[in-house]
Amino acid sequence: MQKKLPLNPGEMLGMMGGGQLGRMFAIEAAYMGYHVTVLEPGELPPAAEVSLKHIAEPYLSDTGLTRLAQETSAVSTEFENVPAEALNRLAQDAFVAPPGSAVAVAQDRNDEKQFIEQQAHVPVAPHCHIRSVEDIEKADEKLFPAILKTARLGYDGKGQVLVDNRQALREAFDELKGVDCILEKRLELFKEVSVIVARSHDGQTATFPVCENKHRNGILAVTVMPARVSDEVSAKARQYATQIVDALHYVGVLCVEFFVLKDGSLVANEMAPRPHNSGHATIDACWSNQFEQQLRCMTGQPLADTTQHSPAVMLNLLGDIWFDGENRREPDWSAVLAVPGAKLHLYGKAQARKARKMGHITCVGKTIEEAMQRAKACAKILDLPEPQ
Ligand SMILES: Nc1ncnc2c1ncn2[C@@H]1O[C@H](COP(=O)(O)OP(=O)(O)O)[C@@H](O)[C@H]1O
Ligand SMILES: [Mg+2]
Repeated sequence: MQKKLPLNPGEMLGMMGGGQLGRMFAIEAAYMGYHVTVLEPGELPPAAEVSLKHIAEPYLSDTGLTRLAQETSAVSTEFENVPAEALNRLAQDAFVAPPGSAVAVAQDRNDEKQFIEQQAHVPVAPHCHIRSVEDIEKADEKLFPAILKTARLGYDGKGQVLVDNRQALREAFDELKGVDCILEKRLELFKEVSVIVARSHDGQTATFPVCENKHRNGILAVTVMPARVSDEVSAKARQYATQIVDALHYVGVLCVEFFVLKDGSLVANEMAPRPHNSGHATIDACWSNQFEQQLRCMTGQPLADTTQHSPAVMLNLLGDIWFDGENRREPDWSAVLAVPGAKLHLYGKAQARKARKMGHITCVGKTIEEAMQRAKACAKILDLPEPQ
């Protein structure tokens, strides 16, 4: 039985997934007096430590989903590969945000690009669907040099191959074992930016200021907020993100990644139907943050003010900084904590592994230059490349 919205503090809220995104959500929920139950197999995942209840069952198990739906009044997700059927199953008993249909669109790069271009009327990179050897031969020559990406389950640059010509495409498709793919023209990127947008059940929308992102080895390394782009580019990115959530009839928080090209034009690259790594700076830099917004959307409360109060630079902390070559070491946290304006977030993961997301630091300042100087100081302490 679904309860009437809004759901007030004191209610139990459910989270599919118990990683760092669920953890930061649960912390936000606790501020406002909501309780959280996470569904996540495995012992003591990051979110369980700060949630009232942990259902340690597989995400898609019948018993796990039934318990989550029956014991909570609303459910959201922290990972995007939840099958739509699971969300639809939950929706029989609880209010589910985002809806399964919207999550499904984001799970397939071909559907996603088609939706963004045709339904939301937002430009995307020239591309074509590659399902077979015939598709390879039919692909437009103008797409090269290109990137071949698996349509599903790719993240952090995984499942992607650069292909300069048709022969390379044949080999890459073979290498990816002939799974459903998308071939995208490789664009010359001036910058990469993202927008965190929220849409409520009654159609209000709000965007946070634009984030400027730098990746290293396919993984987000640095976010500068607000992005150092023109006001026109910022306004356009926020408008495009809003067009996408409106077209999806979305409820919840969504991140849209964009490429800014040399001529200042924007193309949408992909979307994530949840809070996003590039939006973590909202916690320390804005009047509200992406997790509070997720909470407000799933409880049917009004959206929060997204004004930014402090310029910020976020550094992602991967497990690599716990290693000196193959030897383990503890990063010098005291030195980091001595940097003014440096806010340390660690996700409570038991074991550091290379390339594993362990935490982040957001450096705030009165100006973007000051925030950047502080981020540079933290990077130096942690042996990270200097952020720019
Ligand atoms: N069409 C493209 N042209 C140029 N660079 C691209 C293109 N598509 C992806 N990239 C680069 O590869 C990175 C990862 O691709 P993305 O589609 O975002 O996949 P993931 O799901 O792994 O984040 C992007 O952040 C960007 O740097
Ligand atoms: Mg990406």
